[in-house]
Amino acid sequence: MTDTYIGAIDQGTTGTRFMVFDHEGQVVANAYEKHEQHYPEPGWVEHDPLEIWENTKDVVTEALADAGIDADHLDGIGITNQRETTIVWDRDTGKPVHNALVWQDRRTTDRVEALEDAEKIEWIRGKTGLEADAYFTATKAEWLLENAEPLKMQSSRAADLRDRAEAGELLLGTPDAWLVYNLTGNHVTDVTNASRTMLYNIHDLAWDDDLLSEFGVPREMLPEVRPSSDEQYYGHTDPEGFLGAEIPVAGALGDQQAALFGQTCFDEGDAKNTYGTGSFYLMNTGTDAVESDHGLLTTIGFQRSGEPVQYALEGSIFVTGAAIEWLEDVDLINNAAQTADLARSVDSTDGVYMVPAFTGLGAPHWDGRARGTIVGMTRGTRKEHIVRATLESIGYLTRDVAEAMEADSGIETTSLKVDGGAVKNNFLTQLQSDIIQTEIERPEVDETTALGAAYAAGLAVGYWESLDELRDNWQLDRQFTPEADAEKADAMYSRWDDAVERSLGWARE
Ligand code: G3P
Repeated sequence: MTDTYIGAIDQGTTGTRFMVFDHEGQVVANAYEKHEQHYPEPGWVEHDPLEIWENTKDVVTEALADAGIDADHLDGIGITNQRETTIVWDRDTGKPVHNALVWQDRRTTDRVEALEDAEKIEWIRGKTGLEADAYFTATKAEWLLENAEPLKMQSSRAADLRDRAEAGELLLGTPDAWLVYNLTGNHVTDVTNASRTMLYNIHDLAWDDDLLSEFGVPREMLPEVRPSSDEQYYGHTDPEGFLGAEIPVAGALGDQQAALFGQTCFDEGDAKNTYGTGSFYLMNTGTDAVESDHGLLTTIGFQRSGEPVQYALEGSIFVTGAAIEWLEDVDLINNAAQTADLARSVDSTDGVYMVPAFTGLGAPHWDGRARGTIVGMTRGTRKEHIVRATLESIGYLTRDVAEAMEADSGIETTSLKVDGGAVKNNFLTQLQSDIIQTEIERPEVDETTALGAAYAAGLAVGYWESLDELRDNWQLDRQFTPEADAEKADAMYSRWDDAVERSLGWARE
């Protein structure tokens, strides 16, 4: 009997990965390609969707070729993606009308501030579980319909994009929908991605007419919303296409929800934190959409075919890993691995705090106009202190959301599963455990985002039968327990709020 596998496309903020997993959830093939980041103006961030699609085809082809796996041996494909990032494209030609507006893009901050009325903000939160913010798809879609350059359409009929969208000629989607469309020709998204658009009612599980009208988004351009693990399948790849095989595309999850699924956080109270460009701390709250009183988001965690949706509380931290990249950009370090030695070479930051609010602050502060801030420097401050302060800031930002999570859910965080690039750094992970004062568990397969998408697709096609089978696949790599005592951790954390205070509102005109 020939072995078969499940493939997962992980379309992230900085690049696209394709991984192939076996029954034990082990990686058997892996390829990755970066795409270009476009910053046309300060605070604006764009990606070229066509480049992303080309890279997707490249990494799929490359991973299969390197591992000597025939595409026919894939029983299914799952997709996971950077969430909220907004793409509008022509239904017939498949051409985007503009670059994608990336989740980090702040160009619609004014639009969100114009909502100012507290009642309206509550109204949005009530329907979507989200804090009104430029982070989400709604205002990005509105901006594209009003501002995308008709010239890019290479069509004389492109003058009014909103009219064209109403006529069903233009489609809207997050990167999952864009990839599903390119792979299968169908226009669908999953519930987790829909829940990040600020256009979807997470209680009624439907696109919300009031929100569509508030943001001027025609219903005709929206994808059909399906379970994250879908036994009906989103579609099949084209046997005449680049893969040369007809494979079911049967699962999709926004990347943070995929990591929750890949970490097997299937039960109420299970939590994970993923350390990528930013960090996203999610706790499964079961079939209850728990409302946050402490600045967290209520979002959809996942849904399997024929089952109710599982909700999650989320603390979205916009910049964590990207703060380490920034240290490299300004030549304080040569590579990320150096941060551990530099930070360890000093006992403390000597009172320096760094708030990496480069794209504003997300949960629980929600200030689009906060900006990066370093406070407490003296003539004796060295780069080692700044490097250490940057690593510590990741712990403080995480503690902010961990405390909010406990307050909202009433569940004390005693253990946290972590994943993402930065947790390969033992020093950083130990520091997290010290600052948050909780036990941290790092799994063996750290690509849990891709694994979660593979699990969603694999359950839908019957490659895996049950959640228990997936729980058995989860293996501990290393456990970190707090080494610093609680008093010391509290003392370090006590001045963090003062530093955050100084970063707030900085970009106000
Ligand atoms: O909400 C944004 C998040 O989905 C981006 O994740 O891993 O691509 O930085 P990542």
